[in-house]
Amino acid sequence: MTLQLGLQEHAAYIPDDNPLTSEKIALGKQFFWDKRWSRNGTVACVSCHDPNHGWADPRQFSLTFEGKRTGRHASTLLNRLFSDRQHWTGERTSLEDQAMNARDQSPELVVEHLGAVPAYQKQFRKVFGTDLNAEGVAKAIAAYVRTILSGNSPYDRFQAGDTDALSPAARRGLRHFEGRSHGRGCIGCHAGFNFTDEGYYNIGVGMDREDPDLGRYTFTRREADKGAFKAPTLRDVARRPPYMHDGSMKTLEDVVAFYNKGGHRNPWLSPLIQPLNLSASEQADLVAFLEALTGEVAPEVTSPPTLPQ
Ligand code: HEC
Ligand code: HEC
Repeated sequence: MTLQLGLQEHAAYIPDDNPLTSEKIALGKQFFWDKRWSRNGTVACVSCHDPNHGWADPRQFSLTFEGKRTGRHASTLLNRLFSDRQHWTGERTSLEDQAMNARDQSPELVVEHLGAVPAYQKQFRKVFGTDLNAEGVAKAIAAYVRTILSGNSPYDRFQAGDTDALSPAARRGLRHFEGRSHGRGCIGCHAGFNFTDEGYYNIGVGMDREDPDLGRYTFTRREADKGAFKAPTLRDVARRPPYMHDGSMKTLEDVVAFYNKGGHRNPWLSPLIQPLNLSASEQADLVAFLEALTGEVAPEVTSPPTLPQ
């Protein structure tokens, strides 16, 4: 696999028992799109992770196979190759674990519904050497998700020496992002080539609610994790409003204004979140920088597959 400009191969996480092969990836791509995957045939991964919307959901909350609202906003699936743990809280240990335990499916029904498709049985045997089973379906989907990669953004071309790739506004925004003008900057958490350190922080989103979502705490039960959520990658961020685990911010301007006032104060707020005191034009520069993180995803990854009868 050749990675786009700006992505770093040494950071890739691929479990030893699920190597990437082109046949497995192609099969996983079909499952990703196929609604027969879900318990009642009404949703597929693509229903909530839209390739034309930065692989997230334009809706604040998604609708499950039962037509119920999900508890959190659907995260982007971009550049998950560079991480083992998944979900806003990190409670899934791998992409395989995530696909195996997704609530809209059940392993028994996956075998019953997808296993009834002769073309899938044939492809599956070729890849895994057995009849279709739920673990293999999860592995194939995880393999495909690892190919959803975005790089070669204006920022990457700028880093590679093309000084005109970033507008003057985006270049000023980069300085704010790196904290060279005020405080510690965004790179305190959105660090490195994928703009995340994969860490969990309380920045105060939703903490003004009476009964806030306590995030990572709901699964670790550690006091320090109260209200902490994963710092997401910022690649392609302009493509996927609304933002945050509760989809409560409609625009990047809203996000930057939120950080500028120092997040939302609460007992567990990360010390890295402080008022920034950026002027309106400095905030606009920061937004211009975030927009310059919009890169390219390979067309063969994004285009819908043909599904067998
Ligand atoms: C009904 C909507 C829905 C469907 C269908 C769905 N997801 Fe999600 N997905 C979500 C939501 C909501 C979250 C956030 C969950 C959380 O963190 O609590 C999420 C989170 C994820 C994450 C975590 C990403 C990260 O950055 O941590 C991955 C990976 C993922 N989904 C993959 C899939 C795959 C693969 C499928 C199909 C097998 C799928 N999803 C089907 C709504 C959906
Ligand atoms: C203390 C760590 C930390 C710092 C510093 C930080 N962020 Fe974040 N960022 C997060 C976390 C955690 C989330 C997710 C919070 C949630 O959903 O509740 C997030 C979410 C975001 C999102 C939404 C992404 C999405 O897909 O929904 C954007 C945009 C963003 N941050 C930009 C910035 C910018 C710009 C700065 C600097 C002004 C910054 N961040 C500083 C931790 C941080």
